[in-house]
Amino acid sequence: MWYNHTMCDTELTTEKILQSLPGPLLAWYRENARDLPWRRTADPYRIWVSEIMLQQTRVAAVLGYYARFLDAFPSVEALAAAPEEHLMKLWEGLGYYSRARNLQKAAKIVAAQGTFPNTFQGLLALPGVGEYTAGAIASAAFGRREAAVDGNVLRIFTRLTDCHDDIADPKVKRAVRDQLQAVMPEREADIRIFNQATMELGATVCVPNGPPRCERCPVRALCLGRIRGTAESLPVKRSKKERRVEEKTVFVLLRQGRVALRKRPDTGLLAGLWEFPNVEGALDEAAAGQAVAAWGLTPKAWRSRLWAKHIFTHVEWHMTGYALEAAGHGPPDWEWVDGAGLAARAVPSAFARYYAQAMERLGGAEINQ
Ligand code: ADE
Repeated sequence: MWYNHTMCDTELTTEKILQSLPGPLLAWYRENARDLPWRRTADPYRIWVSEIMLQQTRVAAVLGYYARFLDAFPSVEALAAAPEEHLMKLWEGLGYYSRARNLQKAAKIVAAQGTFPNTFQGLLALPGVGEYTAGAIASAAFGRREAAVDGNVLRIFTRLTDCHDDIADPKVKRAVRDQLQAVMPEREADIRIFNQATMELGATVCVPNGPPRCERCPVRALCLGRIRGTAESLPVKRSKKERRVEEKTVFVLLRQGRVALRKRPDTGLLAGLWEFPNVEGALDEAAAGQAVAAWGLTPKAWRSRLWAKHIFTHVEWHMTGYALEAAGHGPPDWEWVDGAGLAARAVPSAFARYYAQAMERLGGAEINQ
């Protein structure tokens, strides 16, 4: 399908989108960027103070504090020498007070060294400076080709490329950083504003709450999220609270000194590993008996009931378990293994309680027979 712009959805790969991003983005920034005090300077001290204040804090809240702070401490030496009470007073109301303490710790280090670190790694070593802040300072103050990826940038990236990966996953953040790094401009003047421009787009156009203002966006023609209508639902961020809970009933099925195992599918969670047969839902003993019968087995003696929980990144299993003696064969793809056979197979730790129970029972069965 063709849209009202130069490219067609199917032509837009992540690589093409990213390669086409800097040109229109930088042109837009030069025309439209807000006039913010830390954008009028190349002084690393002033840029650093701004980035620390802007961590988790809105621009509007920072502006007054920033001006007062720099009036009081116009240089890194002045900050290093500041009485703590004066420093904390100037920070009062801005929140996250450890930022102020780290700022002064770092100021003492820089003052003692006599120069500001001018590399990503050097900046990263300062207290209170994480990867994002190190990238932002390295690029804006020193013209270094270092991408800075924060929530704004992750939002832009995932919308532009229609990426549904979980941005709470550090691997995803690293991948975004690497991909942006690869398309950062080469000219120093462009490098200095590239990260500022992605932030600005995220803060003023590709906004977090409410619909993005696509009509004003300089890269709307490139944006798969807009074209496909997914932009507003992106990025995907799974918090711990949102982890899906799956109820399962797990069976330790024992037969003549052996236990039943089956192989998990080749794709998906715990692909290709061995597991104890299980069904969805938390079944009571009667329903569990029916599930066993449905596999062609006859329950003989119920041995134990074991509850267990296992937490994966995106899902949490709540397991009700039954150990029982059974007669019959079960489905043809199952294997009935003895203790050594169980030990030889890769059974994920999600089943640890049932594994231990099976081992105990198999040992017991051998002794009893
Ligand atoms: N948020 C974090 N860094 C910023 C910057 N330099 N300008 C505007 N907002 C920001």
